Amino acid sequence: MISPTKNRVQAHELTFECFLDAPQIQERVVAMGQQIAQDYRGRKPVFLSVLNGAFIFSADLIRACDVACETSFIRVASYEGTSSTGAVKSILGLDMTTLQGRDVIVVEDIIDSGRTLHWLLNELKQYQPASVALCALLLKPDALEFDLPQDYIGFEIPNKFVVGYGLDYNGEGRNFPAIYQLVEEE
Ligand code: IMP
Ligand code: MG
Repeated sequence: MISPTKNRVQAHELTFECFLDAPQIQERVVAMGQQIAQDYRGRKPVFLSVLNGAFIFSADLIRACDVACETSFIRVASYEGTSSTGAVKSILGLDMTTLQGRDVIVVEDIIDSGRTLHWLLNELKQYQPASVALCALLLKPDALEFDLPQDYIGFEIPNKFVVGYGLDYNGEGRNFPAIYQLVEEE
């Protein structure tokens, strides 16, 4: 039983107001799951969910996706490197042999600059999947700096910080059943 949607919530010192309530999210996620089921009928895709943010979205998405499939989870670690390239990243928790020849659907909570997914999709190519599609609940088009496939996008949202439904602010707010937008102080 999900608790009723609050109008305003707090995470650390910041205040957020409701932007997408739980029924709105559910309706969209179910539609996305049904679309994926239709598109992947007979192909047994592998859902590759990016932790931590996508854990709630992917749990709802795959239950709305009535097709034979497998699920896997990865983490992307970033380090501040000393080289001029900046961030060095690696994939944690992925058995690379499992993706060869498979139809992979990468599941993310949000695309902001697109840097993380641009890097990840590139990295996945070395495992020789049959295909790679991208499924993200949220996209901030005004923040996007990298060219990405946009196969399944839940909502295009303004370039403001959001929390809830898996998304956090410094570790807090992932448990909010709705999605909340930062209230900018005047
Ligand atoms: P990108 O690499 O700039 O696209 O950043 C993507 C990652 O940053 C997401 O997977 C989130 O973990 C985090 N992120 C970006 N925007 C937000 C936000 O508004 N709220 C919470 N996390 C965010
Ligand atoms: Mg994330």
